[in-house]
Amino acid sequence: MKRLLAILLSFGLVLSMSANAAGNVEAGMIKGQTCLGCHGVLNYNNVYPTYHVPKLGGQHAGYLVAAIKAYKDGLRTHVTMHANVADLTDQDMQDLAAYFEQDGK
Ligand code: HEC
Repeated sequence: MKRLLAILLSFGLVLSMSANAAGNVEAGMIKGQTCLGCHGVLNYNNVYPTYHVPKLGGQHAGYLVAAIKAYKDGLRTHVTMHANVADLTDQDMQDLAAYFEQDGK
């Protein structure tokens, strides 16, 4: 019985490790709710249709992570986007990218 438990525990560890290695779509969906306020709007213009908001859904996860990092590090300058991603961890970025690549708006 102890042995079975040990096997189950190590299996669970492997599973959780692999979940952390790449983005987690479900976690990204929750974290991405604030992004949809802008990135999920019709025609991808913000409420005052003064600037265009790029579509994130279906874009490659690697590209999305790179873009988010660039806003965070100030390599890409956009005040709003910098404010939105300034506090994200690497895991947050992976999760968000996985979500938007798969089925985000
Ligand atoms: C207040 C509106 C707003 C919110 C909220 C917002 N964004 Fe953005 N986002 C923009 C705008 C506007 C741009 C285009 C900026 C530019 O021209 O560089 C952009 C650009 C991006 C890009 C670059 C896309 C491309 O095609 O290069 C990514 C990736 C992105 N946002 C991710 C996010 C994520 C992830 C969140 C949530 C954590 C988020 N955004 C929240 C308005 C917003």
